[in-house]
Amino acid sequence: MMIIAIDGTLASGKGTLAKRLAAHFGVPHMDTGALYRATGVAATIAGVDLTDEEACAEIAAKLDLTLYPDADLRTAEAGQSASKVAALSKVRQALFELQRSFAGQKGGAVLDGRDIGTVVCPEADVKFWVDASVEERARRRCMELEKAGKPISLEQMIAELRERDIRDKTREVAPMKPAEDALQLDTTQMGPDDVFETALNFALKKG
Ligand code: C5P
Repeated sequence: MMIIAIDGTLASGKGTLAKRLAAHFGVPHMDTGALYRATGVAATIAGVDLTDEEACAEIAAKLDLTLYPDADLRTAEAGQSASKVAALSKVRQALFELQRSFAGQKGGAVLDGRDIGTVVCPEADVKFWVDASVEERARRRCMELEKAGKPISLEQMIAELRERDIRDKTREVAPMKPAEDALQLDTTQMGPDDVFETALNFALKKG
């Protein structure tokens, strides 16, 4: 059984890599960011203050992911609310077990997020840290949003990503950072195929 942990910044290509590795090895994939996004969206709908730790944790504990279509979770607002609730220790605790039991599946699993290699699955067999320049990540995210019919300007996206990176890196609980034993990939100049092949070679050697 092989656990693959992929962490990194928004729009770095970590989700694409996670899906491709999961398909290659025939194991399930969990996009853990969706858990935080769904918690943020659910709290907003319920009118709960995103700094109210107890109330947000209660929502996280009762989360029913089937209620939130992917498009609702992919908006810039959902991303911002996700990174706010993700800074709350009790929210992270509530989502921890879900992630652990997913990782514990018999045949192995791929999980992507911000703290998989450091906190959720420190024992993972293979770890990656994926990042790219903020300009390139903003360009990618703007293209995605434009396709989804929700265009936003490049300048606004760069500002949002900077704000989100700072919040994720400086929070007290499980700050976003590379695990010591992670292979670090800078995808600024790499296409999805290059990233996949480099990662696969590493996984095959380690796993
Ligand atoms: O990866 P994604 O952009 O969907 O994640 C949304 C937010 O959820 C991140 O900005 C981060 O604050 C939070 N997150 C986290 N830990 C994870 C996954 C996501 O804190 N494992």
